[in-house]
Order: sequence, then structure tokens, then C-alpha cells
Amino acid sequence: MAHAMKPAGFQQTIRRAWLPVLAVALGLLPLTAAAAAPQPDPWWKYAVFYEIYPRSFQDSNGDGVGDLNGITRRLDYLESLGVDAIWITPFFPSPQVDFGYDISDYVAVDPQYGTLADFDRLVAEAQKHQIRVLVDMVLNHTSDQHPWFIDATRSRHSAAHDFYIWSNGLPDGSGKHRPPNNWTSLFGGSAWEYVPGIDQYYYHRFYRQQPDLNWRNPRVEHAMFEVMRFWLDRGVAGFRLDSVTSLYKDPQLRSAPPLGGRTSQGNAAVSDARTNNLPEVHALLRRMRSMVDHYPGNRVLLGETYVSSTAQLSPWYGGARHDELHLPMDTAFAFATRLDAREFRRRLTEAGTQLQGSQPLLLLDNHDRTRSWDRFGDGVHNADIAKVLATVLLTARSAVLLYQGEEIGQATATPVRVEDVRDPIGITGWPREKGRDGERTPMQWDNSPQAGFTVSTHPWLPVTPGYEKVNAQSERRDFDSVLNWHRKLIALRRNDPALRGGRLVLLDADNPRVLTYARVTPEGSGVLVSVNMSAQSQTITVSGNSAGLAGTRFRTLLSSPIDIDVAAGGRITLPAFGAWVGAVE
Ligand code: GLC
Repeated sequence: MAHAMKPAGFQQTIRRAWLPVLAVALGLLPLTAAAAAPQPDPWWKYAVFYEIYPRSFQDSNGDGVGDLNGITRRLDYLESLGVDAIWITPFFPSPQVDFGYDISDYVAVDPQYGTLADFDRLVAEAQKHQIRVLVDMVLNHTSDQHPWFIDATRSRHSAAHDFYIWSNGLPDGSGKHRPPNNWTSLFGGSAWEYVPGIDQYYYHRFYRQQPDLNWRNPRVEHAMFEVMRFWLDRGVAGFRLDSVTSLYKDPQLRSAPPLGGRTSQGNAAVSDARTNNLPEVHALLRRMRSMVDHYPGNRVLLGETYVSSTAQLSPWYGGARHDELHLPMDTAFAFATRLDAREFRRRLTEAGTQLQGSQPLLLLDNHDRTRSWDRFGDGVHNADIAKVLATVLLTARSAVLLYQGEEIGQATATPVRVEDVRDPIGITGWPREKGRDGERTPMQWDNSPQAGFTVSTHPWLPVTPGYEKVNAQSERRDFDSVLNWHRKLIALRRNDPALRGGRLVLLDADNPRVLTYARVTPEGSGVLVSVNMSAQSQTITVSGNSAGLAGTRFRTLLSSPIDIDVAAGGRITLPAFGAWVGAVE
């Protein structure tokens, strides 16, 4: 059913985009007519992306670790959910110190996840389900087991030595030396690791097994662009660029200003001004964008762009030039912690006004953060709260990123004993930092042992208690489930022109508990959305007049709970954490 609702697939999009060009080439169209032909919006503009953490999605060979064939097996599910694309976190050969974010070969598949042939099959099968595949590109660092790094540590004169960031350190007064500055690793300790064989330190933003690449060396750019082409040629629809804001560091290696206080790893906190957000990265992104845009089919660059405000995202799009990332993630939106109508109103306003017309990419969850279920849940109304959040995410003017399990209301299950922790930052940081295992537990498919994730009795992380109820299969059968709410919202968003491209107009803007807005097409048709962000029932009067919607009849498109009524004049009573979406006619 979902299949029939999909807009034109890639082949069609590619064909449409190339048609005028072809017509000019054949002399069928004068140049001016072809240039004037309206360009359809690229597919990614309204897409729902779905993040897959492959270790925890679906195991197909019984070893307790998810794999690529497991993802292929679940394409029907993804299609019925309605997602347009999947982003798969790294599945390349890796010592797995950071569970794949430490890559030792960028152009192959780690045997525990499958083979390149499995990947090709996944892309081909996904295409049949009208789902595009994005891969994670870790450009900031490699594994210390990557052949480049092994070569780099052999000698100061080896071919790949300058692929990484080196320093001789400073004398420590006792005939030895110490790191060149106070930079710390995000994962704890100094960011400098000493290599006795060549008597030098290398820089690592993350674990010491993740040496940072030296992007000031043009050979690094050349090599990594080749890697990206390898995957683009294999048919990927784009990339999620890991840690993309930190590719360049201060070439003089100056110490960072101290911030006072301690990090979650117990280090003295220092500013990241020397190691993050350096202006040089933007020219690189323009070159990368131009390379990627040369491929047909609107390939897309998503960015892991941690910034503290939406306005700071604009440069990552290339500001008014729109020539850098297509969709840097709005992590400021993702960092909302309170379910507060005023806060969400502010964030939506910022996303709509501070990006110079670029399309926001909104998200709440990923594999590095406590799930929104737990961040926003009050322990009583979690499912209704999850529906409120999904409503905002999927009806705002944006592309959307969901993280596996978010759509079924999967909970975070942080380990309670340090001996159970698998994420190294949880091992070194315990108990202050318990690591990221909690948000990476296996996807809950059904109520069989191990939730249908694996036939092994030893999944790499334990399945979260409560999966017997919270799982894709049982929620699929429950009309009122969090899963079906997501499915209905995605279907609506796909088919309703106002929800796709319409502008967003905030309504009832002083209401502290109820968030209400209209989505309005240029032709003046529209949809109203109203969510109660409080635990008390709220009565409001909706009207689209101030948004330019003349109609006075309201037709409910979706409501949670199901029996929310709109009385004459637009009066609606939303129970605790109720959500309503309606057309104005
Ligand atoms: C990104 C990833 C995270 C990883 C880190 C280092 O933040 O999302 O999981 O540990 O980069 O690659």
C-alpha cells in the first residue's frame, strides 16, 4: 500500500532532471525554454531518513551482531513505515574500538556485517522498495590499524606520515617531553598520543585508536574523495558526514582557552575553538558538494553538525549560496529537553527563519544520545508524548531523521553495572559517563526470545526488558500504537502538498501549553496542527484565518486519541498530550 503512495522513484527523478538537458542536446528545445523549465524539488527536501545502527538492527547469521543481510530482510518493514532513505552507520572493516567509527578500510565491508556483494544486493533491493541508501563517511579520522596510519608511524619520512597530525611535543624539563598543548579528547584524557618509534605525538579527537587525518594535506582530500566516489559509483544516494565540523585544527597547535569545570570524562574543560569550526572547512565542503552534485539523481550530504543554535547552522549550508551541505542536522532542535510549547515554537521559528531559505533537517534521536522516549517521557504518558513529538517532527517544514526504534517507542536501557558496558567511553567514564549502550540495544521486532533480533542467545547487547509489548509486530496490530502513529503521519506528509512544501505559520503564539501551527500552500490550502504539551486537558479554538486560510470547516486527518472532535467555530479539547492534525476547508 505504502508503495503506491510514493512519489516518483529515483529513476523517474533522474529522468525528469535530465530530460531538458537531453532535449537541448538533441536540438528539440531552445536553450532558454529548457532553462525556464521548473525544476522539481530534489527528493531529499521532504524526505524521511531513517538511521540504522547495523550492529543492532537485524542479525541474519545468528552471531548476535546485526548485518547487512539483516537490513535487506527488513526492507518491507521500512517501506511500510514509509521512509525514503536509510543511513547506515559504518559497516566497513574496523577493529570496532568505536563500533565501526574507527575504519581500517574505507572501500570494503567488515566480514561481521557481510560482503560488498551483500551491500550491492541491499542497494538493489532497497531500490525496489523505493528506498535510497546513504552511508556514513568518517572523514575526520581513521583507525590506527588503517594502512595509512601504520605507514605513518613507521618513520617521519614515510609516504603517509603527513596524512595525520603530528607534533614533537614540548620539553618537560626533565629531558623528556610532554604533549604540545592542552587539547583534550572528547572521549577522555589528552588528545595527544606518543609514538616512541618516531618520537612524536599524534592528535586524536576521539579514542587514541582514532588518529585524526590532516586535511591540510591535499593528498588526504584526494584519497577521501576517491573513497566517496567508490560508494557513489556503487549507487549510494549520499553520505552522512561524521564529525564534519572538526576536520581542520589550528595549524599552530595553540592551547585552547580553559572553560572552567570538568567534562563528563573528568578532564578540565577547554574550549574547542582550536579544533572545531575552523573556517577552512567551508572551502573543502564546497569542493565536496560540487563533486557530489556532478552525480545524477540528487545525491545528498547530511552533516553531523553539533552547533549550539540553529543560526550557527546556516554556514554549513553555505549560507545564501547553498553550496555546501544539503542537510546539516539541526542538533539544536535535537537538544530540546523540555516538552514546552514556547521552546518548540522558538525552535521552529529559528529553523524557518535563520537558514536563509535552506531546508531544515530535524531530528530528536541518534545512536549517541539517550532516546527522546526517556528525555521527554514523564513515566506515565510516554507513548502520548512520543506521539506529540512525532507529530511536530513530521508535520514541520523540514526533512526528518528518525533513529531505529524511535518509531516504536523503544526505551533507553543504560547498563547498571560497569562490567556490562561495551562502549569504551562508558568503561573509562563510569559512573559519571555510562556510555552509549543504552540507545544502541537491539531493535525490537517481535515478542520471541531476543525480540526477533537474533537467534543467538547472546546478542552483543541485551534486548531491553519490556520488548514483549514494545515491538514492531505487536504495534503493527494495534491501531493506536506509536508505530502506527508514525506510519500515518509519514503517509499524510507524503501525500499532502501543504505538509510537504507549505510554509509554516505559528498560531495562538502565546499559549504556553499548546503548540499550534498551520502549513499553507501558495494556493492557499492548508493543514492545521495542534499538540498539547501538558498533562492537563486544554481547550483551544483553532482558526486558519491569520495564516490566510479562509475555510471555516475543519476535517480531522489524524488525532490522538482518536476521538478528538472539532466543534463548530473550531473549538477543540485536547486531552493530556493529545495531538490533532486537520484540513481547513
Ligand atoms: C560521531 C559518531 C559517534 C562516534 C564519533 C567518532 O559523533 O556519531 O558515534 O563515536 O563520531 O567517530
